[in-house]
Amino acid sequence: MNYEIQEKPEWGEAATFVPNKFSPVYNWFYYKEGYSRNLVLDVLDMFKFGEKAKKGSGGFVLDPFCGVGTTNLACRERGINSVGFDISPLALFAATVKCRSYDVAKLREAFASLRQSRFEMPDRLAVPGDIRRFFNPHTLDDVLFFRSQMNRIQDHAIRDFFRLALISTATRCSYMFKDGGALKIKKHPVPPFRKVYFAHIKRMMHDLKKLKTKKCKTIITEGDARHIRLQDESIDCVITSPPYLNKIEYTKIYRVEEALFFGSRDGEHGIRSFIGTKAEPEMLFPDLPLAANAYFSDMSRVLKELHRVCKQGAKLALVAGNGCFPDRVVDSDVLLAQLAEQAGFKVKNILVLNKRWCMRHRVEKVGVLRESMVVLEKK
Ligand SMILES: C[S@@+](CC[C@H](N)C(=O)[O-])C[C@H]1O[C@@H](n2cnc3c(N)ncnc32)[C@H](O)[C@@H]1O
Repeated sequence: MNYEIQEKPEWGEAATFVPNKFSPVYNWFYYKEGYSRNLVLDVLDMFKFGEKAKKGSGGFVLDPFCGVGTTNLACRERGINSVGFDISPLALFAATVKCRSYDVAKLREAFASLRQSRFEMPDRLAVPGDIRRFFNPHTLDDVLFFRSQMNRIQDHAIRDFFRLALISTATRCSYMFKDGGALKIKKHPVPPFRKVYFAHIKRMMHDLKKLKTKKCKTIITEGDARHIRLQDESIDCVITSPPYLNKIEYTKIYRVEEALFFGSRDGEHGIRSFIGTKAEPEMLFPDLPLAANAYFSDMSRVLKELHRVCKQGAKLALVAGNGCFPDRVVDSDVLLAQLAEQAGFKVKNILVLNKRWCMRHRVEKVGVLRESMVVLEKK
């Protein structure tokens, strides 16, 4: 099958989380796997989706792999209704907190009382040793103390707001170092926890004034993209980025946050329902490695589900990275386009956003890895 493959390097940086670092609210939690606000707004413009919303016939945008809610938050800026699903409790929590509306006066009041809370020594040894080693003991005491203070806050939205600030600050003040797919320890002097935590909360409250959102519906909930809990033909547009082939490391690199704040061990939630983890998948592409088949058989299921929930004429943008294997590059963009076509979609084009080398043993070049956007339409 021949698809129109077009270079679009001007969207390259927007396909990463980097621009979000400078965007209020989007930057409340750093999610390396995410894309940026700019990419979502550019796609909405490309699909002319905002115009429909202005005329009051907006419909719903879906992100079945919503991560920290970038698609949903950008839709809120434009007043567009959206639904987001994800399987990671941590990502879902960040997405939910970022996509809420707040009463800033109430937040200020609760913040004043949080600042005055008197320190009580927590039981640091209750934290498993493999998690404890990522922190200086005094920092961990502060993290655990504030974690216990959260239970005193009645209003769940306010509690979650301070909790997200706590998660981000705990990461920042730890020895944790996310090196690609591995979680490493780098011991260095850490900034004083309380100071950083309070400054982070103040900045978050300030951000609420800076980011203007419009009235619309935003639904963010736990869900597996292979079984989308939506009615047939209920969605007008999909903007999303599934996990990339051969990159299931998020199940490992957020294990400290998950263990400390969500009581889960070793990313257990993620691993169970993560895309591409089945041991005996359907071999859709027999010439490809087993890991690639596990990925594509799940993604084929996702594409069929997307076809079911989309209305006729719905437009879809799927950002995906090609897979790097020791002996070859697997062109996921083209193979996903092929599976999308089999599911009933029309492939409009493939936009190549970024390119880099796939390396064997960090020295030998195997081939060029593309990160692309597959643009589809339901016929
Ligand atoms: C590339 S990230 C998407 C990031 C998102 N675009 C953002 O800006 O935050 C892929 C996401 O898919 C989620 N995920 C993995 N398997 C899933 C599944 N079966 N159903 C739903 N979400 C899944 C991961 O937890 C991760 O957050």
